[in-house]
Amino acid sequence: MIIGFIGFGKVAQNLIRLIKSDSITFITSAQNRSSKTIHNIEKSDVEILESFKQVAIKSDILISANTPSNALKVAEEYGKYVNGIYLDLNNISPDTTLEINRHVDSLVDGAIIGKIDSDNPILYISGKQSEKLLFLNEFINVEIISEKIGDVSILKLLRSTYTKTLSALLIESSEIAKKYDLEDEFFDILTLTEAEDFKEKSKSRITNTLNSKKRKSEELQQILDYFDDDLIMVKAALEKLNQ
Ligand SMILES: NC(=O)c1ccc[n+]([C@@H]2O[C@H](COP(=O)([O-])OP(=O)(O)OC[C@H]3O[C@@H](n4cnc5c(N)ncnc54)[C@H](OP(=O)(O)O)[C@@H]3O)[C@@H](O)[C@H]2O)c1
Repeated sequence: MIIGFIGFGKVAQNLIRLIKSDSITFITSAQNRSSKTIHNIEKSDVEILESFKQVAIKSDILISANTPSNALKVAEEYGKYVNGIYLDLNNISPDTTLEINRHVDSLVDGAIIGKIDSDNPILYISGKQSEKLLFLNEFINVEIISEKIGDVSILKLLRSTYTKTLSALLIESSEIAKKYDLEDEFFDILTLTEAEDFKEKSKSRITNTLNSKKRKSEELQQILDYFDDDLIMVKAALEKLNQ
């Protein structure tokens, strides 16, 4: 079994770390890649081919994990060469997933939920070919959502609708708590009714959101653009992040 990667960042490296089997070979290419990616490839247990076209042709499973803005271009360029399964793991909108489906015969719509560098991230997948990836359960939790391409992308967006809006609310309420010099106490009393590690998780969520405000705002805008409904809370979260 050959698993190929287009994109060799955190996702690819961690999947290789988790999927350990003598019967699986990993391949990728360094074609037009940055020195950082070439370094990551060289230190991993992966065969390096001349081009991504060759990677696409040779892979039984081709994993596209590059960037949300390149995902469609990659599918347009290499999807036609894939004889096996094309698993897209990029954080893309359901519209982009459906567009990719037009260029790829055997697409599986995928999302990794949970920290990618943890030992137990979950891979959610949808699409008619999903069952063929169930063997990965030996290495990583795999959950099939449905046979429909787009379902996993929609779920991912729904998850972001909740988590990103909640982050904005956390930022706002903790700012007020700080003003009254009650920030720690504020998190302590919330911990009583929320999860045990609520304080640490909330602080890390706040820091992450503030550190990548621009990207989070774009993602909130994507949610507003995709769902037709009048999402009052999401709009407020976007306004908060843009402040
Ligand atoms: N990190 C996570 O926890 C996580 C979880 C779920 C989903 N995702 C999604 O999975 C994708 C990969 O995430 P990541 O964290 O692994 O990203 P990353 O660490 O930033 O790495 C991205 C990789 O993609 C390569 N790349 C970009 N454009 C390419 C192209 N046109 N052809 C070939 N390679 C290309 C980059 O190479 P260069 O360095 O040469 O540009 C780099 O090796 C993203 O779409 C992300 O949204 C990430």
